[in-house]
Amino acid sequence: MIEKSPLQEFAGQTALVTGGGSGIGRAIAVRYAAGGGNVVVLGRRIEPLQETARLAQELGVRTDVVTCDVRDAAAVTAAVDGVVAKFGAIDALVNNAAGNFICAAEDLSPNGWKAVVDIVLNGTFYGTRAAGRHMLAAGRGAILSVIASYAWTGHPGTVHSAAAKGGVLAMTRTLAAEWGSRGVRVNCVSPGPTETEGAGAALWPTDEDRARVLASVPAARFTTPEEVAESAVFLLDPRRAAYITGDVLSVDGGQWLGKAVYSDSAAGERK
Ligand code: HXC
Repeated sequence: MIEKSPLQEFAGQTALVTGGGSGIGRAIAVRYAAGGGNVVVLGRRIEPLQETARLAQELGVRTDVVTCDVRDAAAVTAAVDGVVAKFGAIDALVNNAAGNFICAAEDLSPNGWKAVVDIVLNGTFYGTRAAGRHMLAAGRGAILSVIASYAWTGHPGTVHSAAAKGGVLAMTRTLAAEWGSRGVRVNCVSPGPTETEGAGAALWPTDEDRARVLASVPAARFTTPEEVAESAVFLLDPRRAAYITGDVLSVDGGQWLGKAVYSDSAAGERK
């Protein structure tokens, strides 16, 4: 079990985490709770959300679960308003819910495109708009969206997801500019290949796929949801990240740089 953070940086605060029933979303929710913050997790299936809530409760915070699809704007708004009604405020929103599959652009159906853009881009806007209204009224708050480096580098087979996450990045920078003077910070975290059930099965199902992904990462390993969560909560921290807005923190072992190869034959003899 994760231990309480000595900083207790989120004591008395409340976060809403979308897609909080598994993977990176669960890890962020639990790490926020370790910092003393109450957490509300939102997702489509109740059982995984309840398990996240149980893990957070073990850290002594208050929790709630909300089942809803982030594609439903009215339901997302009601969920955000419910957080404020129950906990008194929404201090942090984590837009983590995502849908993804690898597909050649020329084979992607309009409905496949729409499903991913609706979840990632539209869902992020619905939550951000609803939470932003409360945060602006309170004069404080932090919004964090989980994106991916292919939002700016591009990557074959991800046209729908890259377009959506690129849109989230543009939204983030726009809102940082629009809301910055009113106490609301808006940032992104950009994980590299992360060992989660969802990502593994969808994105590197075979050993060959895994090896190919690993070869693209200078750090030469996958990351964990917990490692991503540490960076996520740093950006949510009202004290340590107070002057950071409109930015992206990559937690990808250097993957987005592209893996340059050291030329042994061109280099002098190593001493
Ligand atoms: C081609 C596909 C497809 C696939 C779905 N579709 N899967 N097309 N290849 N593998 C098409 C369907 O045929 C359909 O179009 C349309 O997409 C909608 O599919 P549904 O199953 O009806 O939609 P829905 O049930 O709403 O599911 C949404 C989803 C699903 C995005 C397709 O995968 C989902 O909900 N995923 C959530 C969990 C998830 O993806 N986690 C992984 C996150 S990992 P037609 O035309 O047939 O009607 C991650 C890391 C990124 O994001 C790293 C990338 C490198």
